[in-house]
Amino acid sequence: MIVLGIETSCDETAAAIVTDAREIRADVVLSQLDDHTPYGGVVPEIAARAHLEHLDGLIRRAMADSGLGFADIDAVAATGGPGLIGGVIVGVMTAKAIAAARGLPFVAVNHLEGHALTARLTNDVPFPYLLLLVSGGHCQLLVVEGVGRYRRLGTTIDDAVGEAFDKTAKLLGLGYPGGPLLEKAAALATNPGRFDLPRPMVGRPGCDFSFSGLKTAVRRHVEELGTPLSGEDQADLAAAFQTTVAEVMADRCARAMRRFKEMHPQGGALVVAGGVAANKTLRARLQTLADREGMPFVAPPLRLCTDNAAMIAWAGIERLRLGQTDPLDFAPRPRWPLDPTAKPAIGKAGVGSGVKA
Ligand code: KG4
Ligand code: ZN
Repeated sequence: MIVLGIETSCDETAAAIVTDAREIRADVVLSQLDDHTPYGGVVPEIAARAHLEHLDGLIRRAMADSGLGFADIDAVAATGGPGLIGGVIVGVMTAKAIAAARGLPFVAVNHLEGHALTARLTNDVPFPYLLLLVSGGHCQLLVVEGVGRYRRLGTTIDDAVGEAFDKTAKLLGLGYPGGPLLEKAAALATNPGRFDLPRPMVGRPGCDFSFSGLKTAVRRHVEELGTPLSGEDQADLAAAFQTTVAEVMADRCARAMRRFKEMHPQGGALVVAGGVAANKTLRARLQTLADREGMPFVAPPLRLCTDNAAMIAWAGIERLRLGQTDPLDFAPRPRWPLDPTAKPAIGKAGVGSGVKA
């Protein structure tokens, strides 16, 4: 089975061709970074227009890279949500048009399921597994029991972790997008232990997250130090923030691991996914935790952690294998939780199913 995947839910336009033998035949991603940088964040209208402008060309390039023609494609999968609705519409309409013109099945993929199943594309991880999904719009711990079968153990009560990276980077004067810039700055720290930041939720029952207190603590330090910060202050604060986030994650994951083992005594892996999974300090901390708990740890390659279309094509393949397709009147979904039974976290109703995924 060979599937064309399309991703347009945020600020990356992407197309990929993946086979059910877990082979990525093509994978092209166009970042809209330059379009949004002047505004310090993603502007939905600009994103939608940029997707519209570039998607056709990207699909053509993916087809060329794969050396395949449309006659070789078995199905078309596109992100059907959650995300910025204008962009999702562009991807879904394009996929439907190709499916209709070629008489192919269409699959509307939940973007979060794309992230969640990436470890099966890259590492053939068996169900069940414990997933830490950390991106610009989400911060969740989920038990992945099968395709479309998710049980949420925890979520954030305020900011998503990627959002916290982005906002903190802005406070430090590092620019946008914050995550990678903050990681780079932290690597230059000469005194990474200089600032002691609070560790929200650590030691508390449950598996929920909170990051707004941490961000406020960073802001106080910045105000005390005075702006613009020196390179040294930027680096030391970035390092403190990054280490603290990794510690918070490890604490929450340790609790989720205990819950997971009760639910599935036969065990399973700890998998990390989403853009923040690109962070090397976080990956190293999770590896240490998994080693201690005797759980295998799987982190997809960096390129497949951030938004891409290979994960959408793969999630499409997983759904197609179960005989699941979507009708051509599928309506894009700005909100689409993986576990619809999960209650909103206390503090901010509905968080975790917002626009950025
Ligand atoms: O999954 P993703 O590409 O987009 C969605 O949110 O769907 O994740 C983007 C998020 C941004 O907040 C970005 O700052 C963060 O992932 N990110 C990182 C790193 N690379 C990307 N955060 C920390 N360290 C990184 N190296
Ligand atoms: Zn994403």
